[in-house]
Amino acid sequence: MSAASRRIAVFGAGYVGLVTGACFAELGHDVVVRDIDETRIEELRAGRVPIHEPGLDALLERNAERLRFTVDVAEAVAEADFVYVAVGTPPTYSGDADLSAVWTVVDELPDVGRRVVVVMKSTVPVGTGEKVRHRLAARGLEGVGYVSNPEFTAEGTAVRDFMHPDRVVVGAFDEEDGDAVAGLHAGIDAPVVRCDVASAEMIKLAANAALMTRISFINEIANVCEATGADVVRVAEGVGLDRRIGSSFLRAGIGYGGSCFPKDSLALKQLAANSGYHFQLLAAVIEVNELQKRRVLAKLERHLGSVRGKTIALLGLAFKPNTDDMREAPSLVLAGRLLSEGATVRAWDPVARPSDLRGVLQVGSVEEALADADAAVLVTEWPELAELDWTTLAGTMRTPVLVDGRNMLDPGAMRRQGWAYEGIGRAADDGVV
Ligand SMILES: NC(=O)c1ccc[n+]([C@@H]2O[C@H](COP(=O)([O-])OP(=O)(O)OC[C@H]3O[C@@H](n4cnc5c(N)ncnc54)[C@H](O)[C@@H]3O)[C@@H](O)[C@H]2O)c1
Repeated sequence: MSAASRRIAVFGAGYVGLVTGACFAELGHDVVVRDIDETRIEELRAGRVPIHEPGLDALLERNAERLRFTVDVAEAVAEADFVYVAVGTPPTYSGDADLSAVWTVVDELPDVGRRVVVVMKSTVPVGTGEKVRHRLAARGLEGVGYVSNPEFTAEGTAVRDFMHPDRVVVGAFDEEDGDAVAGLHAGIDAPVVRCDVASAEMIKLAANAALMTRISFINEIANVCEATGADVVRVAEGVGLDRRIGSSFLRAGIGYGGSCFPKDSLALKQLAANSGYHFQLLAAVIEVNELQKRRVLAKLERHLGSVRGKTIALLGLAFKPNTDDMREAPSLVLAGRLLSEGATVRAWDPVARPSDLRGVLQVGSVEEALADADAAVLVTEWPELAELDWTTLAGTMRTPVLVDGRNMLDPGAMRRQGWAYEGIGRAADDGVV
C-alpha cells in the first residue's frame, strides 16, 4: 500500500527533521523543511547535506522534486496539512528539557484558516501536548490539531529505522487527527500504537530509559567481571540468549553518550522529581554511566603509571560509529580527564571534526595518532578499526598499550600481535609493559 500524497512542513533540518522530511518524501508526500539556520538551508538547496547520516544523501537526491527548503515560516506552512516539529530540546541548567524552540514554532504558526495538525517529533516532557493545545487555543487557533508522534530512530541507521521501524507511535487528542498521522505512514510495515498524547510522550522517554538501564546494567556486570575474573562478552552472550531478556543493548563499554540518552534520562528524572517522585533506578543508571567513562584512566595508569607527560591516542571521537555527532560523546569526558592529568592527547575520527575540542590534536589517520604514542584508547567502534594491521601499528608505538573501550577487538589476537590489551569487563592483560 502506498500513501496518499499529503503536504507536510517539517520544522527543524537537524538529524531528525532531515530524515523525517526525506523519508516522508520517499513515501510520496510533498515536504517543505524549514530551519532558522540560513546557511544550513542554503547548503540543502545547493544539494549538500550538512550532517553525516548513511543513506540520507541518496534519499534527498532521489526525492528532490518533492522536497523544498526554506527559512520562511509562511512559505513552509502555506499549503501544509501537517506541521511536524523536529527542533532541538536540549537540557537546561536544571536538567529539564529546554522547550524554547518548540514554543517558538507554536507561537509563530500562522492562522491559515483551515485544519492543520501540529505533530510533535521532538522529544518532550509528558504534559507538553496539553500545554501546546492550551497555547494554541489562547491564540484563537482551536482549529489546529495536535498529535504526538515520537521518534525512535538511532543516528547512523536513522533512514533504515524510519522506513522499517519496530512500531509507529501516534498519540492524539482527536481520533481523526490520529488517523491522518497514522495514514502518513502507509507504505511502512510496522504496528501502529494508538494512544493518548501523554502516553505517547511517556513511551518515548520510557523506551530510552529502558535502553540506558540495560547499558548501565551490563556495564556494572562488566565491572564485577573485572573484579572476579569473568568475561563480560561471554556473560552477555549467555544472558542475552535467554528469550526473556534478549541480546540487544547488552554490550559493555565506556558508557553511552549522544544527543538523546543523556538529556532524555535527565529530563525524565527531573520530570519525575517535579511531579514529586524520586526515580531512584534512573538516577543510578545515570551515575553508573558517568563513572564508566572515567574508569579508562585507571586502566591506562595500570600500564603507564601516571599519564602525566604521556601521549595518549584516542581512536574515534563521535559518540558512536556512522555519525559525526559529538553531543555528550564519552570522548569529551575522556579527553578532559586525560588533559587534566597532564597527558598529551591526539585523536583520530573518520568523520567527526569537533571545533571546540581544546587541547586535543586532531589528526587525519590512525597511523598519525599512534606514532610514538604511549597508549591508545579505542573510543568509537568504527568498522575500519577492525581491518587495521595491528602488528605493524604496535611497532610504531612507544609502548603498545590499547584500552578497547568497546570490546571491539579480539584480546588473544591483539596480544599475539604485540599489544598489551585491555577491554571492558574482561580479564586484564598481566603483561604490563
Ligand atoms: N538525534 C536523534 O537521533 C534523535 C532521535 C530521536 C529523537 N530526537 C529528538 O528530536 C529532536 C531534534 O533532535 P535533532 O538531533 O534533530 O536536533 P538538531 O539539533 O540536529 O536539529 C534541530 C534543528 O532545529 C532547528 N531549529 C531551531 N529552532 C527552529 C525553529 N523555530 N524553526 C525551525 N527550525 C528550528 C535548528 O536550527 C536545528 O537545525 C530533539 O527533541 C531530540 O531529542 C533525536
